[in-house]
Amino acid sequence: MSGFKARYDEYAAQVELELERLLPLPREDWPESSRPKALAQAMRYSLLSGGKRLRPVLLLAAYRTLREDLAPALPFAAAVEMIHAYSLIHDDLPAMDNDDLRRGQPTSHRAFGEATAILAGDALLNLAFETMLGSGLPRACQAARIIAEKAGAQGMIAGQMADILSEGRSPDPALVRYIHLRKTACLLTAPVMAGLTLSDAGQGMLEAGETYGRELGLAFQITDDLLDLSGTPEQTGKSGGRDAALGKMTWPAAVGFDKARADASAAVDKAVLAAEGFGHQAPFFRSLALSLLERVR
Ligand code: IPE
Ligand code: IPE
Ligand code: MG
Ligand code: MG
Ligand code: MG
Repeated sequence: MSGFKARYDEYAAQVELELERLLPLPREDWPESSRPKALAQAMRYSLLSGGKRLRPVLLLAAYRTLREDLAPALPFAAAVEMIHAYSLIHDDLPAMDNDDLRRGQPTSHRAFGEATAILAGDALLNLAFETMLGSGLPRACQAARIIAEKAGAQGMIAGQMADILSEGRSPDPALVRYIHLRKTACLLTAPVMAGLTLSDAGQGMLEAGETYGRELGLAFQITDDLLDLSGTPEQTGKSGGRDAALGKMTWPAAVGFDKARADASAAVDKAVLAAEGFGHQAPFFRSLALSLLERVR
């Protein structure tokens, strides 16, 4: 497991440098009050504020299955984190989850106002596609299409829509599964599939990638729901107790706390099995799945 942690941190550190490189610094000659300056500040605020960098790490680890040099995949890794950051900014808005705290700091709309937060999210989404399509990588279009689809109206956004529409309704396990598969699992499957596609992986690995992303995503969102109930703001960087306050249709609300823990563990087991399909990267993907059961942030 400690070899795993070192490798994870190494991937995350490369992502950090790439994000810093790609983010537009506010230009010195822009007046303090100018919109572009506030926009650039808000984009940096949400993107360079820590976070586990799980999605770009998944992309790099998937790319590594068949490629030694990670440098060509770094723009894609950064792009998937930009899409994640945009989804968090919008998820926190008053019209959505109305959250005040994210990664231990005020949410974007709290810090910059709603209009700037919305536009910073929009801008990060566009910058992500600019970055992917400008990467010049063979198969960039294919990989960007996978990410667009998984983040889009049949994927993450569909899950977010269902999450909002289900607020206050009596919990239904099948509907919670629908929500979690889309709002979270789709954005974890996307980097795995994009990384594999960029490395020109074959059908067997792509099938393992779909299964792994799905099960990892379910386990990840179930543990997120559990942490909303039992985590502390110091650990999670989020307020906590928000799901109950909003009447969210969460996994523990549908099946109870203990069964939710058992279901997370069963999904991790399935992800561990699927990890066998990743060749020499199998141990990394296996350890990553197992680490979810202990996560506190
Ligand atoms: C939060 O994602 C949103 C969910 C899908 C639960 P993360 O828990 O990966 O958030 P960061 O990026 O580490 O802050
Ligand atoms: C959010 O799920 C998933 C996305 C942002 C797509 P949550 O609403 O549970 O995430 P947190 O708890 O605010 O991080
Ligand atoms: Mg939400
Ligand atoms: Mg939320
Ligand atoms: Mg949550």
